Amino acid sequence: MSVHKEVKKVTTHVLQEMKRKGEKIAMLTAYDYTMAKIIDSAGIDVVLVGDSASNVMAGHETTLPITLNEMIYHASSVIRAINRALVVVDLPFGTYQGNSKEALNSAIRIMKESGAHGVKMEGGKEIKDSIERILTAGIPVMGHLGLTPQSIYKFGTYTVRAKEEEEAERLLEDAKLLEAYGCFAIVLEKIPAALAKKVAETLTIPVIGIGAGGGVDGQVLVTHDMLGMTHEFSPRFLRRYLNLYESMGQAFKQYIGDVKAKDFPNEQESY
Ligand code: KIV
Repeated sequence: MSVHKEVKKVTTHVLQEMKRKGEKIAMLTAYDYTMAKIIDSAGIDVVLVGDSASNVMAGHETTLPITLNEMIYHASSVIRAINRALVVVDLPFGTYQGNSKEALNSAIRIMKESGAHGVKMEGGKEIKDSIERILTAGIPVMGHLGLTPQSIYKFGTYTVRAKEEEEAERLLEDAKLLEAYGCFAIVLEKIPAALAKKVAETLTIPVIGIGAGGGVDGQVLVTHDMLGMTHEFSPRFLRRYLNLYESMGQAFKQYIGDVKAKDFPNEQESY
């Protein structure tokens, strides 16, 4: 029997066990109750309340504007829907960098006010103090390396990271450090598949990829992208399982037509 099928609640230890047994970890984003309920019922292992909510939910161009209060609102909505999955919440930009006391306060607020099970933070050795201080409070931390959207203005583009040897070596070093600091898993975003595989083989903690090939321990996608609700961009790594932009648009048009034609509501739909 697979670990995935056996467990009633996914914990960080379950994820470690899945890696040990070579069982892939499936992770998706959610920002609201209804979506989280569907995803959890489908049997997902990890739900990420990503700061991609800034783009997907609020329509911002980057992940930078979303606030701690907004993340807590999204996380609490998700948590109310979850029976089985581990729920990890992104610490938003400006709430943990360069000030470990503030980082700890931010993480505690997320855990206390939303009921989430862990936090995710972008960066390597530059956020060591914040990671270690959060861990002292017993809060599980997931790392995030490679394309780190909170640093978009430093890099300037959303292109593949760590293609050059020097950056690849630095990423591998950072990944080892995140494991040494005590992170329970890391996300690798948009890096060459060979490098991601090397990181996953080097670390004992689970490595979850997005645009990082199949040689890692699990995969994560932004739910609204994989459902085809968003349609403005099509990165190579994105597999669309539905085209909801199209089918929702059709449904909305049909509803509008029915209202205008006085076809909705009919007698059976009225009291
Ligand atoms: O915010 C997010 O959705 C993420 C994933 C892309 C990993 O960090």
